[in-house]
Amino acid sequence: MILEATAITKDFKVKQKKFRALDRVSFALDEKEVLGIVGESGSGKSTLGEIVGGLQKPTSGSVYYDGKDISNLNGDDKKLFRRSVQFVFQSPKETMNPYFSIRTILAEPLRINYRKLSKTEIERSISDMLIRVGMDPKNTLSYRPSHFSGGQLQRIAIARALLLDPRILICDECTSSLDVSLQAQILNLLVSLKKEIGVSMIFISHDISVVRYISDRIMVMKDGHVVEIGESDEIITSPKDSYTKTLVETAYR
Ligand SMILES: Nc1ncnc2c1ncn2[C@@H]1O[C@H](COP(=O)(O)OP(=O)(O)OP(=O)(O)O)[C@@H](O)[C@H]1O
Ligand SMILES: [Mg+2]
Repeated sequence: MILEATAITKDFKVKQKKFRALDRVSFALDEKEVLGIVGESGSGKSTLGEIVGGLQKPTSGSVYYDGKDISNLNGDDKKLFRRSVQFVFQSPKETMNPYFSIRTILAEPLRINYRKLSKTEIERSISDMLIRVGMDPKNTLSYRPSHFSGGQLQRIAIARALLLDPRILICDECTSSLDVSLQAQILNLLVSLKKEIGVSMIFISHDISVVRYISDRIMVMKDGHVVEIGESDEIITSPKDSYTKTLVETAYR
């Protein structure tokens, strides 16, 4: 087990009132496993992803990375956790500085995390990674984000996440803004990268057919609760909860 969330609860204050976005959510992620998280809009998927990735703090409950509570990490352990958990979001454009070249955007995290790398080593790493995600470095590195389509930018965002050699990749609706054929391309890329580098993934989407394609196990969420969790095929072929049944029926009708 690489990551464990125990009884995660998250309250937000909305118009002076407490709103519970997550209610005692627990799950574990194994080494090299892809866990899909599916549920309708507002079910708490992104909030949960951000909490287990250390971007938000839970109101109560704990997250353990390699058995260590992430709220108690300090110094090198904290840096290592930050580097080991990387995110790919829905709109890559929003996470990239429009005035920077892709070279600068990809080099920055490497420069910050590996101070001893030379310029040549950085250039080689980012070029190699671009090739792995299906982009030609020559026609990519000097351009700014606006030069690229959504699908290409998502490949670049995946390259940026993988450059830091993470152990966990959290993909939050990372194919949702792409049309169907591009969605399939990015999904296939993630599946092959998963096989190649053996990274664990949390794959968040509102679309259960997309989640099924890539996930070993699926966790179904509704209104901040876990509805059910199990092997992907089992969730799809014999869902136990009526909510999961509806999700499956709607997706495969
Ligand atoms: N910072 C915040 N302040 C107040 N409420 C929030 C905040 N962040 C999330 N929420 C609320 O918490 C609930 C869960 O939000 P979250 O974004 O995690 O859902 P989601 O499952 O990712 O939805 P979507 O499929 O639309 O991305 C929603 O009702 C949302 O409005
Ligand atoms: Mg979301």
